[in-house]
Amino acid sequence: MLIAVCCDRGAPGSTTSSLALGVSTPEPTIVVEADPFGGDLALRCVAPGGHGEAFPPTPTVLTLATEARTSMSPGLVASKAHDFTGSTRIVPGHFSAEMAAGVKNWAPLAEALRASSSRVVADLGRIHSSSPTIPIAAAADVVVMVTRPEVGAVLHLKDRLERLAPVLASIRNAPPIIVPVVVTPKRQANAVVAEVGRMLAPSNVARAVAGIGWLALDPSGVEAMYAGQVAGKNARTQLMKSAGVLNDQISQAAGVGPYAAAQAAPVDTYAVQTGEA
Ligand SMILES: Nc1ncnc2c1ncn2[C@@H]1O[C@H](COP(=O)(O)OP(=O)(O)OP(=O)(O)O)[C@@H](O)[C@H]1O
Ligand SMILES: [Mg+2]
Repeated sequence: MLIAVCCDRGAPGSTTSSLALGVSTPEPTIVVEADPFGGDLALRCVAPGGHGEAFPPTPTVLTLATEARTSMSPGLVASKAHDFTGSTRIVPGHFSAEMAAGVKNWAPLAEALRASSSRVVADLGRIHSSSPTIPIAAAADVVVMVTRPEVGAVLHLKDRLERLAPVLASIRNAPPIIVPVVVTPKRQANAVVAEVGRMLAPSNVARAVAGIGWLALDPSGVEAMYAGQVAGKNARTQLMKSAGVLNDQISQAAGVGPYAAAQAAPVDTYAVQTGEA
């Protein structure tokens, strides 16, 4: 499965959300920081080993994008990934936006991510209809759009979805499956998710939206995750628990998850799934 995670202005969190979706499942997952504006996954994540090591400077997503132009195999993405936690590996982004200038065409990378034998979460960062990473969003089984609960951020999200969904649909020859995800504290989760659903409901992309998801705003959980501490009590941080629920929701939306057969939500309804019922 390929999950693309992206966001719009005023809604940071695509890298953190991507990593949370990667580490909160036992399923082997590769988190690929495919943000054309550069990334900081290698800077923020503590490499395994317990001594605060940094990750080596290569390979990065640019290494992967370059190789994907000439070779294609189900193991290509894994061969460029660094170990992070037990079941999660990472392909960090390049350091600065200028370094990606040589990659004119991100379509081969999209094909490599799609062909990967491991589950892939691709962090696309900010996206719009003409972004170079559109082929990756179009290739994804599910597109996660991260937002914050502020009215302006949700209005930007709505506008973004209305512009993006037709573009993705025309490339896929099928509607995309989109899960907007709001990052907010647990105590507000149910109310905020319901309100975001109400704000998006009149949108003409309602049919592409497969429920509203939630990730906990949880700074200490974020810190533990980037430190690679995701076992024991750190597997039960609000961030990890909400990411686990979100992973199930994404699988359900894609029709491949444990709940898919029994509970697949109609794509034109807004399921509120915060795990907080
Ligand atoms: N669920 C969360 N709980 C607490 N803090 C969060 C959460 N998600 C993101 N943050 C914080 O918000 C900030 C931006 O997050 P992040 O780097 O993931 O965003 P981004 O969209 O990838 O940004 P960039 O455009 O710089 O790549 C970081 O300081 C991060 O720790
Ligand atoms: Mg980022």
